Formats: sequence, structure tokens, C-alpha cells
Amino acid sequence: MAGAAAPQQRGGNAEDVSAEALAEIGLRYEVDGEIATITLNRPDKRNAQTFATWSALADIGGNLPEQVRVVVVKGEGPSFSAGIDLRMFTPEGVPGQGSFSSAAALDGPAFEERLRQAQQGFLWLRRPEIVSIAAVQGHAIGAGFQLALACDLRIITNDVKFCMKEPALGLVPDLTGTKPLVELVGLAKAIDICLTARTVEADEAMRIGLAEKMVAKSDLAKAVQDKIAELLSTNRDAAAATKRLLQGARGRTLEEQSAAEGAEQAKRLRALFR
Ligand code: ACO
Repeated sequence: MAGAAAPQQRGGNAEDVSAEALAEIGLRYEVDGEIATITLNRPDKRNAQTFATWSALADIGGNLPEQVRVVVVKGEGPSFSAGIDLRMFTPEGVPGQGSFSSAAALDGPAFEERLRQAQQGFLWLRRPEIVSIAAVQGHAIGAGFQLALACDLRIITNDVKFCMKEPALGLVPDLTGTKPLVELVGLAKAIDICLTARTVEADEAMRIGLAEKMVAKSDLAKAVQDKIAELLSTNRDAAAATKRLLQGARGRTLEEQSAAEGAEQAKRLRALFR
């Protein structure tokens, strides 16, 4: 696995992540002012993901320019992502990256460390300083579903098909998807979706809270643009502080949350009026 940058760092240049290296992995990355766009760009393989994909995502997160406020994650072609590259399950694996059988041969902590590194490609998408939007069309399977879940918001097309395939393959979903799934749809529905590995289509995804908006495929780019414009209309620092509050709300009592609101507001008021 290529060395992943520490995901909590911020403030690099977009150029730190080489376009050529990303193209080889099947990714495109563009920064336009306050908006960063990551495109899974291996449509002929339905944007299947490898260890290199996750490493590159972590590098992008580690070098995200300071000015970026919105990160869009999208997929080229008919599918958002068909999940992990199935060659990872073959003895030969993905050229230059090995396979699960070679990775599993690593001794205990080394193997687990490799799996943790893969998660770094997903975790940074939840930072308070940004809002991440997954623009999802067609299939979002396994790692593809989890990448969509790693984002703050999901805008979907009416042909979307979410599937948590891992348990059908003898695996657990481990790319940071289980917590957001439970938080979005509740424990019973998450058990239903994961332990059957069934497909959740667009209408159901909207009904159970997996997505914020559903549009026709031809309207996806515009729907994302509209959401970006809405998000950029608020104050940057207030947005980050509010996201921090919202993210912490479940883990706090009402009293603790009220205290956290007060502390954030005191900082805001001082910044605005001092
Ligand atoms: N890994 C590697 N290659 C893939 C993957 C994948 N996950 N998914 C699709 N491809 C390749 C196919 O092998 C095919 O390649 P080829 O043209 O060289 O034969 C090409 O992408 C197109 O695939 P089709 O199956 O022809 O495309 P279609 O649009 O009909 O179906 C679908 C798309 C439903 C996504 C299907 O490809 C599929 O079921 N893929 C496997 C999904 C899967 O099991 N992923 C693992 C989930 S578990 C996890 O992510 C941890």
C-alpha cells in the first residue's frame, strides 16, 4: 500500500496529490476554490476499489487545501462503485498490491494496521471543517456503499442500488460504514440490510433516511451544484462549529449538549463582536 498521509493534517496544495498517480489508480481530483471533487474513474470496472484507492483517498484528505469547504465524491459511468475489486479475493490479487490472502499472511498487528490504514481514506470525509456530499448513481455495493455512507450527505439518482454485500462474502463491513448506517436507518433496519445483503433501491433509500435527495440521472450534477451553493451560503466558521455540535449530540446528555452549544456560541460571538 502506498504511504497514506496522516488524515488529520490539513492545508496542503491540491498539487501535492499527483494527477498522473491518481489516474493510474482510477481517481480524478479537482479543487476549484472552496469545492473539491473526487471522481472514481474506472467506469469500465464499475469503479471497483483497491488498497491503492483507499491510500489515495487518505492522501487527498491529508493534503486538502485549507480553503476547501465542500467535498464531492462521485463515480464516472453507470455505477457509483461496485465495491472492492474482486481480484483482491484471488490468490494473484491486484498487480502491485497483492491480495487478501497475501495481506492475511501478515502477522497480527501488521494486518490489522493495514486494515486501519484503509479506513483513513474514509474517516476524513467527516471532518467538521468540510461538508462531504456523495453523488450516487447506479450500484453502490460494499465498499461503494460505505464510501457513500462516509459522506455527510447523499444525493442519489432514481436508479440507485445500495447493497452491503460483505456478509454474503464472509466479511464484515469495515470501511467505517456500520456506524453511519445505524445512525441513519436505526439498528433493526441496518441488521436487515446487512445480514441479508439485499439491495436497497432509491425509493426505499429516501424513505429510510439513507439519502437527502433523489433526482433523475440527468439532474444529478445540477442537484449537487444547488446543494453546494446552499452550503456555501452560510458562514464558514459557524458551519464548522455547528457540524461539531451536531456530530457530538448523540454522545452527550441534553445538559452536556447545551453546555457545548454555549461554549461554541461564546467563541462565535467573540469572533464576531470583539
Ligand atoms: N471488481 C472488479 N471488477 C468488477 C467489479 C468488482 N467489484 N464489479 C464489476 N467489475 C467489472 C466486471 O468484471 C466487468 O469487467 P469486464 O468487462 O472486463 O468483464 C465490468 O466491471 C462490468 O461489469 P458488469 O458485471 O458487466 O456490469 P453490470 O453493469 O452488468 O453490473 C454490477 C454491475 C451489478 C456492479 C456487477 O458488476 C457486480 O455485481 N459486481 C460485483 C459486485 C461485488 O460483489 N462487489 C464486492 C462487494 S464487497 C466489498 O466491497 C467489500
